[in-house]
Amino acid sequence: MLKLENVKKTYISKIGLNQYEALKGISFTVNDGEFVSIMGPSGSGKTTLLNMLGTIDSVTSGTILVDQDDITKMKKKDLANYRREKIGFIFQDFNLLNTLTLKENIMLPILLGSGNKKVDMKKVDKIAKDLGIFKIMDKYPYEVSGGERQRTAAARAIITNPKIVLADEPTGNLDSKSSKELLEMLTFLNQEYGITIVMVTHDIYAASYSNRVLFIRDGKLFNELVKNDDRKEFFDQIIDFEATIGGGHE
Ligand SMILES: Nc1ncnc2c1ncn2[C@@H]1O[C@H](COP(=O)(O)OP(=O)(O)O)[C@@H](O)[C@H]1O
Ligand SMILES: [Mg+2]
Repeated sequence: MLKLENVKKTYISKIGLNQYEALKGISFTVNDGEFVSIMGPSGSGKTTLLNMLGTIDSVTSGTILVDQDDITKMKKKDLANYRREKIGFIFQDFNLLNTLTLKENIMLPILLGSGNKKVDMKKVDKIAKDLGIFKIMDKYPYEVSGGERQRTAAARAIITNPKIVLADEPTGNLDSKSSKELLEMLTFLNQEYGITIVMVTHDIYAASYSNRVLFIRDGKLFNELVKNDDRKEFFDQIIDFEATIGGGHE
């Protein structure tokens, strides 16, 4: 379980003259096994929020509980362990290393980790098969399509058996066919691997794959919509909601 309580983030410029309150007190809970998306206009604090969850950046105040642990109070060493063991990241621009093959990119989190660096190749193969990239694993990122690159990034995100995958606009650089494939993969990882997914997106179609949408505006939680069952119905529900608030997306 992931529980945020009154999370605030103020960015202060280097010389300390300017302050900007990017998150103004956000509270919500994500249960284990949920697939949640976070929507909101550009600049509303979506990436900031995800970076707080991933401990890429620190909160100004508030608490973030992951199971029993408050990650905002963790020491450096515990934080590194938390990031490595519990979290997988997927970014809009894939963040793969071009000098490594897809297979090497997938193995990287294990090779960079402390402790046992032995890679379970059976597991790498299984994940690659599940994500439909098994046949191209010896290619380099620049030799494959954007969709294949993002599925490689998804494989890299889950190789360490994380509890939570954080995805920031994962379909932002994909065409509609590749987006659909990636969203189906994320749904598969959520349902078959039991991974909790928190996805930031401004794409209604992408959001309709999740089970719940949290809307943020100006650094505050604004509303939430919960999916009944049907994706298309949920898609319409999100469109209707955004229409009532005056087109909230980018
Ligand atoms: N490192 C930073 N320093 C100062 N301001 C920042 C920084 N990162 C983000 N911001 C500001 O915080 C606000 C929220 O940004 P962000 O979380 O990236 O929004 P979103 O992902 O919803 O587009 C924006 O106004 C942005 O300019
Ligand atoms: Mg962003």
